Amino acid sequence: MVNQKISHRPTICYRPIQPSDLEVLERLHADIFPIRYEEEFFQSVVHARDIVSWAAVDRSRPNGHSDELIGFVTARIVLAKETEIGDLLIYDPLKPDQTLVYIMTLGVVETYRNLGIARSLIRQVIKYASSFPTCHAVYLHVISYNIPAIHLYKKMSFKCIRRLQGFYLINGQHYDSFLFVYYVNGGCSPCSPLELLVAAVSYMTSSLKTVAARLRKNEEESPKLPKCKETNFLISMQAKRNLTTECTGYECV
Ligand SMILES: CC(C)(COP(=O)(O)OP(=O)(O)OC[C@H]1O[C@@H](n2cnc3c(N)ncnc32)[C@H](O)[C@@H]1OP(=O)(O)O)[C@@H](O)C(=O)NCCC(=O)NCCS
Repeated sequence: MVNQKISHRPTICYRPIQPSDLEVLERLHADIFPIRYEEEFFQSVVHARDIVSWAAVDRSRPNGHSDELIGFVTARIVLAKETEIGDLLIYDPLKPDQTLVYIMTLGVVETYRNLGIARSLIRQVIKYASSFPTCHAVYLHVISYNIPAIHLYKKMSFKCIRRLQGFYLINGQHYDSFLFVYYVNGGCSPCSPLELLVAAVSYMTSSLKTVAARLRKNEEESPKLPKCKETNFLISMQAKRNLTTECTGYECV
C-alpha cells in the first residue's frame, strides 16, 4: 500500500525502546490511545523492567528525527497458569513455569500507517516469544470496534478465542474486547472432547468466580476491581479517580 502522507521514501528500522525515547513514547501513547497510562508504565518500558519493547524509526527522516519513534510495541512475559487463557492452552501441569507473551500496547504514527510497520513489530514479538521453549502463545486484547487492528491480527493468523463483555471502561462507557492468540512452540488450544470439556469447566468456573466477585463488589460498594488480571501494572485508584478515561491495566485498545 502507498502512503500519500509522507513525502520521502522511508527507511524503517527496528530497535529496542530506550530511555531517550521517553518523551516521544509518552506523547504517542497520549495521541494514539483513548486511555491514559501512568508514569510507572513508561519508566518500565524505557528501562526494560519486566517489559520488552521494539521501536520503529525512519532513518531517512531529516532534521535530527531519524532516530525518533514512529511506531512501537510493548509486551511482557506472564505465567500461563496466572492468565485468563491458561484454560485454553494444553499444557503439562507438571511444568508450572509455562509462559505466554502478552502484547500491552501497539501503535504506529498515522502518517506511517499501512506500510507494514505494525506487522513487522508483531513479528518481532512472535520471534521473541518463540525463542523461549516455555512460551506457548502471544496474546492480546483489542477493543471490539478497532477494525484496523482486528484485520491486522486476523491477517497475521492470530485466532480470536473470546469476546469479553464490558472489558474496557472508557469515559464511563463499557466496551467489549476480543482476545486474540497466536500459538508458538507447539502451543495449541484443546481439541479432543475431554480437553474441550476440561477447558469448558475451567472457563465456567472462572466465569462464576468473576460473577461472584462482582456481586460481592456491588454489595460492598467497594472501588472498581482490576479487570485485566494479566497486567500487574495497574493504574492507582487515586490516579483513576482523576481520569476522565478509565482503564484498569496496560492493555492494548
Ligand atoms: C492498528 C495499527 C497498529 C496498524 O498499523 P499499520 O502499521 O498501519 O499496519 P500494517 O501496515 O502493518 O497492516 C498490516 C495489515 O493490517 C490490516 N490493516 C491495517 N490498517 C488497516 C485499516 N485501516 N483497515 C483495514 N485493515 C487494516 C491489513 O490487513 C494490513 O494488511 P495489508 O496491508 O496486506 O492489507 C495502526 O492503525 C494504529 O496504530 N492504530 C491505532 C492504535 C491501535 O489501534 N493499536 C492496536 C491496539 S490493539
